[in-house]
Amino acid sequence: MKKLFGKKIKIAVFISGTGSNLKKLIYFSKNKKSKFMVDLVISNKRHAPGLIYAKKNKINYKIYDFKKQISDEIKILNLVKKRKIKLICLAGFMKILTEKFIKKFDGKIINIHPSLLPKYKGLNTHFKVLNSNDKYSGCTVHYVNSKLDSGKVIIQKKVKILKSDTPKTLQKRILLEEHKLYSKALNIIID
Ligand code: GAR
Repeated sequence: MKKLFGKKIKIAVFISGTGSNLKKLIYFSKNKKSKFMVDLVISNKRHAPGLIYAKKNKINYKIYDFKKQISDEIKILNLVKKRKIKLICLAGFMKILTEKFIKKFDGKIINIHPSLLPKYKGLNTHFKVLNSNDKYSGCTVHYVNSKLDSGKVIIQKKVKILKSDTPKTLQKRILLEEHKLYSKALNIIID
């Protein structure tokens, strides 16, 4: 993904909830050396708490409830094209995009997932990890393809599992690592 002559590339961030990864992406994008700027936020939830970060930072945001997913995806694609967005970053976005949408933006959609993929795809990750004998969990930034949490890995960070961990404590420690990992991944894939 080529940076345009010293200019930061535009990214869109898709959220459904808290938006702490969105918050950190906005924070890191403001660094002079960062290669991206958050141009658009998409949420499938009207009251997603994470929308506050778009509002606070005067970033355009749109809500599509995905009840009519195909037509919402067409609208999003048009918007993304119109705004010359080069990359879509899923950050706690809990809808599964259609194959058609993914193909239309092929190789330019990435996601963050709270496990060391290919282990523990899908939901309830931390619960599943704690029911295993694994010593480490972690987080992964990966390209999105038509199979859930299965695209090529860009970067991962390991987090040690403690004997005292509950899904909540593990989730908290991993989330702190996610916050650094997402920007790192972006700076790797944008030249
Ligand atoms: C993050 O832990 C992210 O990895 C996870 O949801 C959380 C969103 O937090 N995503 C998934 O589980 C996707 N399968 P945030 O809204 O505070 O960024």
